[in-house]
Amino acid sequence: MFGKDVGHAVGVTVRTEQNRFVSDALIPSKLRCHVGSMLQEVEDYFSEWGQEGTVDLKQELEQLLMLISGQCLLGKEVREKMFGEVLTLLHQLIDNSLRLTTVLFPYAPTPTNRRRDKARVRLSELFAEIVRSRKSTTNQIEEDVLQNLIDARHRDGRPTTEGEVTGLILSLIFAGKHTSSTTSTWTGARLLNNPTWLAAAVKEQERIIEKYGENNITYNILQEMDVLQRCIKETLRMHPPAPSFLRTVHKNFTVRTREGDEYEIPRGHMVASPVLFNSNLPYIYKDPEVFDPDRFGPSREEDRVGGKYSYTAFSGGKHACVGENYAYMQIKMIWSHLLRNFELELVSPFPKTSWKKLVLEPDGKVMVWYKRRRLCS
Ligand code: HEM
Repeated sequence: MFGKDVGHAVGVTVRTEQNRFVSDALIPSKLRCHVGSMLQEVEDYFSEWGQEGTVDLKQELEQLLMLISGQCLLGKEVREKMFGEVLTLLHQLIDNSLRLTTVLFPYAPTPTNRRRDKARVRLSELFAEIVRSRKSTTNQIEEDVLQNLIDARHRDGRPTTEGEVTGLILSLIFAGKHTSSTTSTWTGARLLNNPTWLAAAVKEQERIIEKYGENNITYNILQEMDVLQRCIKETLRMHPPAPSFLRTVHKNFTVRTREGDEYEIPRGHMVASPVLFNSNLPYIYKDPEVFDPDRFGPSREEDRVGGKYSYTAFSGGKHACVGENYAYMQIKMIWSHLLRNFELELVSPFPKTSWKKLVLEPDGKVMVWYKRRRLCS
């Protein structure tokens, strides 16, 4: 889907190398560089809102997260010169790829698959042009993820190819965009539906403003937003964007249930881990239907009760999400800004889950009323 130079189109050795390039580009020391530009995108975006009004939060946050990806992942060429075209193409690629029919019949000659493929080809051309131009410039000082992928080297010293860079950056946008915007919207719906947790999250912002001042956000300050972090984590438990993940069995193994029954799982089989089901097990999560971010607090730590795979919103093992820190960073950046600068109210009913796409998003619009305010310490 992302071209012939990446993912399952290449051998395991190269694929492992490519995973390293991607995870190296998203380590905390690299993420620190994005705080300023991410904050700028968030401030600029919400400065366009009026004094008071009603918006579809889902649509707003989708747009904002695309702008953030444009800035932090793709860099200035896209953000400044071709954002409109890239935005439309990414929308076509992502939207048409996430439909269940596309997932089940990826090669069928359907209009959806044709739109997806056309968008991917054009995006690859655009990104390849940028990669070519950057590779030919010796004194490049960009700090975006694209540049990190261009600068990455295979273990034998080979530089990444144009096809690898374009394929990897497309796969990152694909993996991160819809998951993050869906989670940001669900977080909003959950907070605005829970006055106690909304008040706790606002209080936390007041404390942070008192400690660091009003317009000061750094990577470390984002790490101090513990209440907000737990609200997002709990939202993800209740609304994991990826409801299950699959693994191929490489070695026979045995599973023993709590009741003592044993099942042999043979090599070559495919195992599905249903995240949505796992995160609602009542012997791990007390009253799983209740929004309770305290379950992740130091005295309870329910996400560890059943071992290291109790909480799998970001999957686990070798293919666990490499964008987890980046995702928390952008969602906290957005919600800390909203809580500080707006009174908010959910005016449509609490959203139902849409099961039409691969990523479980809120069904329909999520209408929110806002009024500007200035949070003081
Ligand atoms: C709340 C937001 C996010 C959630 C819930 C999420 C969840 C996941 C899950 C469940 C997987 C594993 C799928 C599987 O095992 O088959 C995954 C993989 C991945 N995610 Fe995320 N993700 C999020 C955001 C991001 C972001 C922002 C990025 C990048 C900027 C990203 C990049 C990736 C990549 C590259 C993989 C593939 C890893 C591999 O196959 O080795 N994700 N994500």
